[in-house]
Amino acid sequence: MSRAKRVFWTGWATATLLAAPSLAWGQADPLQPTGRWSANQDGQAALPPMGWNSWNAFYSDVDEEKVLASARLIVEKGLAQAGYRYINIDDGWWVRRRQPDGRLVIRTDRFPSAKAGANQQTSFRPLTDRLHAMGLKAGIYSDIGRNSCGQIYTPSFANQPEGTIAEREVGLYGHVDQDIALYFGEWGFDYIKVDGCGIRGLGPDTDHVRKGNYRVLPPLIDMNALDRTDIPAVRALYGQVATALRRNNPDGDYIFSLCLWGSADVRRWGKDLGGVSRTSDDISASWTRMLTNFDSSATRAFYAHPHGWNDPDMLFVGAGDFDANHMTEARSHFALWAMLNAPLLIGYDLRKANAEQLALLGNRAIIALNQDPAGHQAIPAYLSDDVQIFVKTLADGDKAVALFNRTQAPVEAVLTAAHLKMRDDRPISTTDLWSNERGSFTGERKMTLAPHQTIILRVRGERRLANGSYLSETPGDVNPAEDGTVPLADPTIHHAPVPWQSTRGPGDHPQYSGWGGAQPDRAPFGQPLRVAGKMYDTGIGALANSRLEVRNHGRSRFAATVGVDDSALNGARSVVFEVYGDGRLLTRSAPLRRGEAPAAIEADVRGIKLIELVARSDSAIGEAPPIAWSDARLFG
Ligand code: GAL
Repeated sequence: MSRAKRVFWTGWATATLLAAPSLAWGQADPLQPTGRWSANQDGQAALPPMGWNSWNAFYSDVDEEKVLASARLIVEKGLAQAGYRYINIDDGWWVRRRQPDGRLVIRTDRFPSAKAGANQQTSFRPLTDRLHAMGLKAGIYSDIGRNSCGQIYTPSFANQPEGTIAEREVGLYGHVDQDIALYFGEWGFDYIKVDGCGIRGLGPDTDHVRKGNYRVLPPLIDMNALDRTDIPAVRALYGQVATALRRNNPDGDYIFSLCLWGSADVRRWGKDLGGVSRTSDDISASWTRMLTNFDSSATRAFYAHPHGWNDPDMLFVGAGDFDANHMTEARSHFALWAMLNAPLLIGYDLRKANAEQLALLGNRAIIALNQDPAGHQAIPAYLSDDVQIFVKTLADGDKAVALFNRTQAPVEAVLTAAHLKMRDDRPISTTDLWSNERGSFTGERKMTLAPHQTIILRVRGERRLANGSYLSETPGDVNPAEDGTVPLADPTIHHAPVPWQSTRGPGDHPQYSGWGGAQPDRAPFGQPLRVAGKMYDTGIGALANSRLEVRNHGRSRFAATVGVDDSALNGARSVVFEVYGDGRLLTRSAPLRRGEAPAAIEADVRGIKLIELVARSDSAIGEAPPIAWSDARLFG
């Protein structure tokens, strides 16, 4: 959407009658309650996928023996038992698109079992059969454009597609149905990662197009300018893949992984289409690059749910800053990914793994956090550039807390009962998940974190809210179906040098959209939640003109204290807060402005499955004031 195309809302009462701005595609008024959970529920990613991927270990220098060796070790070393199941082949497997019928041809010099007969007939079926016989699942890689990332961005790549221009068009563009039927129907894959380089790097003025290497494809994505990205067109292409996957997998046994590196405002819509969606550009085996990738997912807990996880990229445990000599860093990387409900995809040549590394990857207590059935991503309880605290609500009522030292010096951290939303006058019992040491504290506990260390505890205590939970404790049950944002890049993400550029050029710019999205326990641009001077340490901060879908698991009452957040720039705008139950209006506040006392609202939600929290304002799109659903909770 162009920010020039501003639409004014003429008032909350008539807002539903207005033709909607192009904020939520295919829906007339994005604030109109639907009574329906709109985030993706298709496929097999009810829990974050676990497995192995060839890319970080081998880049495009992948072959059958490497894939099978890792698969065998995953079984033999007990990692399959610990939950690792998907064995995913990344870029480098294809040799050409056969002409004239367009069937893809596998590089049989690398994958000998794929050789299936005359006329370049190849098949991955023997390999996927083998993986399935080992109790594993198989994953494949493609691109949404005509050409792949390796072709466009990595000229020195091993295993480039070969032949004429048409033969080298190995991506899905124009072949979605044909390729998805081949991968899933004929070859038996269970997982696909769909990259986006082909719709980004082949503009008319690029070297590749000028030299006649590849056909022009006017870019739909501009990584540095969301206004120059055709977001609806990108979404539509990925939507075609989602549809083809459903059609070709009647048993629903597939995972769709979107790889758009946080571009094209994918944070808002990727969760509606796929099982996992990348939030940043590629990770590398560097501590600071890991921070970048972590940050791109860490403040997006409301945008991750069962069947739609944030993906900060694959694990680099085993290499570089996370190698056998850097186990503190490796443990931090692994534990943080677990806390974020990130896919746990090993990116290491397991033939080189020692016992300690295998033990880390197989750590059941940490994996259990990632695979917890409630599916709540950890939320930030304390943020600074140096030390951070993340808290994750677990299905059995426990919480997991990670205290993370990002710096190279030791730091002292204090964990408080307030961080955990537990009572500060009752003991809180703790289990250190690295040492298994048990303990207990009341009120607060001081800890010293070694450089780069993450202390990770499982805790149990008396909840501050005895008979229910705050919505910010259960982000997996909250979906910002419409979050009132215009696509803005998030400036708070760590800016590491981009590994493949070093310090050439001006450095990393904010590029991953999401700034201003709904936040647990904070205002949408990171300020504290505060209404008319009163601070709230709990609640949902969002922009007005938003609609949040909330799953209710049998609670009978909803309550919150609502108002326009003090961080609003424009004090003149009014906001009305509405609560719907299964599509029916339950309660509505009077119009509220910044500085006005917050309103307590409460609703009977007995028997209601889906609650919708709507904040309507009379402001222009892009100028909606931050609002607070303070202490929003379900109880009884
Ligand atoms: C990148 C992607 C990587 C890897 C690579 C293959 O775009 O983010 O994870 O798949 O392409 O060329």
